[in-house]
This record gives sequence, C-alpha cells and structure tokens, in this order.
Amino acid sequence: MTIQEFKSKLDIPLIVSPMFLVSSVQLITESCKQGIAAVYPSLNARTTDDFEKTIFEINQGLEKAKEHTNKVPAPFGVNIIVNKNNQRTQADLAICKKYQVPFVVTSLGSAKEIVDEVHQYGGLVFHDVIKKRHAEKAAESGVDGIIVVCVGAGGHAGTANPFALISEIKKFYKGAIILAGSINKGNDILAAQNMGADFAYMGTRMIATDESLASKEYKQLLIESSIEDIVYTNQVTGVYANYIKKTLINNDIDFHSTNTLSAEKLSETKHKSWKNIWSAGHGVTDIHSILKVKDLIQQIKIEYKKQLIKNNEILKQLKF
Ligand SMILES: Cc1cc2nc3c(=O)[nH]c(=O)nc-3n(C[C@H](O)[C@H](O)[C@H](O)COP(=O)(O)O)c2cc1C
Repeated sequence: MTIQEFKSKLDIPLIVSPMFLVSSVQLITESCKQGIAAVYPSLNARTTDDFEKTIFEINQGLEKAKEHTNKVPAPFGVNIIVNKNNQRTQADLAICKKYQVPFVVTSLGSAKEIVDEVHQYGGLVFHDVIKKRHAEKAAESGVDGIIVVCVGAGGHAGTANPFALISEIKKFYKGAIILAGSINKGNDILAAQNMGADFAYMGTRMIATDESLASKEYKQLLIESSIEDIVYTNQVTGVYANYIKKTLINNDIDFHSTNTLSAEKLSETKHKSWKNIWSAGHGVTDIHSILKVKDLIQQIKIEYKKQLIKNNEILKQLKF
C-alpha cells in the first residue's frame, strides 16, 4: 500500500492513536467503521497469544462491518514498542506479518528492524518522534510516515512547537507527516493540514468515549480538567509525560522535582503509571462529554466540513 492509497481509504485524514490500558478492540473497530484509521497497542494484550486473538477479533469485526454496510472500513494499525525493555517486539511483529496488519506504528527505540519486514508484505510503518534527531533516524530507516508528537500531547509528549518542528522535519524528510498534540476537533485536523501535516493523530479525546477501557472516574476527570490540571513530569516513569495533576497528588508524586529518579523510587512509581496515575494532554480543555465513538467521529466530520466552508468564505473575501 502507498501513502496515497492509505489516505484514499480514510473519510478524513485522522488516525486514532494507540493508548496503553485505554485502547479497546471496540475503539479500533468503531473508528475504522466510521472511516478513520486507528491503532491498537500490542501490549494491551497480556501475551502474544492474546494479541493474536485480538488481531483476529479486529479483522473479524471489520469483515462483518463490510458485509453489513457495503462500506470498506478504514485500515487499522498496531503499535509496537521497539526498545530493549519490550521482550515481545519480535513475537508481536510476527503476528502483524501473519495477519498482514495494514500499518505498524513504532515508538521509542529504532524502527529500522521493522521497516523491511512490514514493507515485504505491503504494510506501512509510521514512527513516533518528539525531536528532530529522532526524526532524522526515522527518516534514515525508511519509514513511510513520521508522527510528530508536540507539546501538550497525552502520554510521552514532546516540548516542541508544532509549526517549528514540522518545518524542521520537512527540510530533510519527504514522507508523510502525522501531527499529534491536543487535536480534538474537526477544525484542529484542518489546522494540522495547514501546518503541513498529512494526517492528525488523536489520543486524549478518544479516552472519553463509551468504547475506551478507561474507568468512569478517569473519563469524568477528563471532563472536569482543564489545561492547568495537566502536569509534565519525569517523576513517574523517569521519562517526561503529561498526567492529570489530581492523580499525581493522590499517589504522592513530587511533581515539582526534576531529579533523576533513583532505581528504588522508580520501581515504586512505575507500576502505578497509567494504571493509577492517569495520563492526558492539554486537549482535556475541549472535553465536555463522554460520547460513543460513532457520534464523536460524526461530530468531528461535521466540524471539519464546517471549517472548510468557513475557509472558502475567507478566500472569497480576499482583496488580493
Ligand atoms: C493514556 C495514554 C496512553 C498512551 N499509550 C501509548 C502507547 O502505548 N503507545 C504510544 O505510542 N503512544 C501512547 N500514547 C500517546 C498517544 O498515542 C498519542 O501520541 C497522544 O495521545 C496524542 O496526543 P493527544 O493525547 O493530545 O491527542 C498514550 C497516550 C495516552 C493519553
């Protein structure tokens, strides 16, 4: 598949991002049924055997949807963590190859060893970056797209401004750009395209859906939170990420500190991360309700179209 073919399979240029302990089979299949690509994190399945069952289930759900609606669902992807802490990289990749998962998103580490294997069966590879240096490495490894994770994103966000980082990466990379960080609405997707991105990547907004695996309390906290309630800290896993302040306080995390965590402290906090200490991006400010994925995507499509109409009006009023 080429990037152009991938794009032509989506109703709007949006990809639902992978979220550890949050993304469910239903979140993926419902998004794809609505014409939006979506990514399942392989580690959400407890073992590689469970992961294989999950891929089977997603394929089955999408096949059924195709029969019932006569509409071909958007492609789904799998997120594989490629650093040395993940013992399942190769085994999970083998499942992606077996089922010819349409695209693979690699995060942390290097995409190099994955690219050839996925290309061999016709799949695409997108790699997650927060810095120019990581983007250069991803470009060298031949990925089809670079996911540019900017300031205010949920999870392991970056600190870069999206305008600047996209411009920087476009100087040396000609593949697809996927922008992440507080993208919640249809008009945000269009804004991402105007900045030079080919696709938008959406995480936090999708947590507050019926289909996500997040608890009721987590979803409710997203509704109650605004930008001031999100804290960027390295005091949970040793790597900087955005979390909901209240859950840091509840778990006695000293988020004012920037010290490197001792091994002892790290083992204490790490097992609480994502499970008890909840992540979200600055985009919480735009979350006011918990919706069904179908309704949320419908709303996003309408916002996207309305913004296009608005842009057309702006164009008509131009005096030059
Ligand atoms: C709860 C949570 C879990 C996440 N887990 C993963 C993960 O397992 N793999 C990954 O590549 N990114 C993960 N991310 C990052 C997202 O895929 C994505 O980059 C980010 O959510 C986009 O920014 P946004 O949340 O502002 O939309 C996670 C984000 C959140 C909020």
